[in-house]
Amino acid sequence: MHNSPAPLDAVSRPVDYLRISITDRCNERCLYCLPEGFTAWTEREEILTYEELLHVARAATALGFRKFRVTGGEPLVRRNASDFLAALIAQPGVEHVGLSTNGIRLSASARALAEAGLRSANISLDAVEPAIYRRITGGNVREVIAGIEAAQAAGISTIKLNAVLIRGVNENQIWPLVQFAASRELILRFIELMPVSLTSVLNEENFFPVGEAKKAVASRTAMIPDLTRHGNGPAAYYRLPELSATVGFIGALTDLHFCETCNKMRLTADGSIRPCLGNHGEIDLKPALRPRADAARLRKLFLQALRDKPREHSFRDRYQPNRVMTAIGG
Ligand code: GTP
Ligand code: 5AD
Ligand code: SF4
Repeated sequence: MHNSPAPLDAVSRPVDYLRISITDRCNERCLYCLPEGFTAWTEREEILTYEELLHVARAATALGFRKFRVTGGEPLVRRNASDFLAALIAQPGVEHVGLSTNGIRLSASARALAEAGLRSANISLDAVEPAIYRRITGGNVREVIAGIEAAQAAGISTIKLNAVLIRGVNENQIWPLVQFAASRELILRFIELMPVSLTSVLNEENFFPVGEAKKAVASRTAMIPDLTRHGNGPAAYYRLPELSATVGFIGALTDLHFCETCNKMRLTADGSIRPCLGNHGEIDLKPALRPRADAARLRKLFLQALRDKPREHSFRDRYQPNRVMTAIGG
């Protein structure tokens, strides 16, 4: 069963990567992610249990999914997240598991995560300057830096930093972030603001294209396109030989080829498969999970989601967000 080939979706490419959101809650309030004063968290009963999530992962591996990313909200605010990661990592057919975290609670859980078998984490870091970091996230950048150090010390060996660009807020952090990442031998990615949630920074004036970030880096140091795939996402990477560093650019809006290599689908915290981040289509898996898991029905719904996967996102198409980013899982 687990050896069945990766399915081909409507656009004839293998879809073998599932992002699993384990909670929509977060301990930060990033400007680009949550609307001000947001409190409409999903009711606890609506959130899938770990057992249900493992049923979904089993249905996915049976269809050829091999890579999983655990996201939130902030995944580390959910109790026993490392136990869930251990169970997911141990599941037959699961070849790679990564975690996407804001890093705030990472120093406390790094050891448990490493013991669970986690070797790869993507950590949000939008600024190194504490005041700018606080303005964007409401949090303390020193905690994130402590989390990064704890993760490295614990043996989580593949760490990528994510910086979402917001004009007028953190463009002066581009070079300091490059220097920070280089000094710690970490891969850094700059990300274009996506209209995923309706927030106050979501307007044309705040949009900062990755092309501009690339120019800002190129004005400081040499850049050579790096065709190595450092992740599974649609980032374009460059080597910076003078700094022995690697920097990636995630141009969801300006890169017209962005979706061509997309191999992923998302599971929302409340149990819907979302074939594309930038498209409202979702399929609710709950009827196949409650009152008890039904593997045949789950498989059918997954196949439907694969058939429904759009060729590209609709972000350039006057897309109107319908859910907050935390519920979808980034
Ligand atoms: P790896 O490649 O496995 O490291 O993961 P990733 O880069 O996809 O994961 P991460 O959670 O770090 O996401 C980084 C950023 O890229 C987030 O802003 C995501 O929303 C964005 N992103 C990742 N994949 C996609 C995608 O398929 N479509 C869109 N629109 N954005 C994506
Ligand atoms: N646009 C781009 N990236 C976003 N992220 C969250 N919201 C947005 C948005 N509106 C990023 C986070 C995190 C990743 C999982 O998603 O910064 O690094
Ligand atoms: Fe894939 Fe949708 Fe992301 Fe495009 S926006 S890369 S189609 S998930």
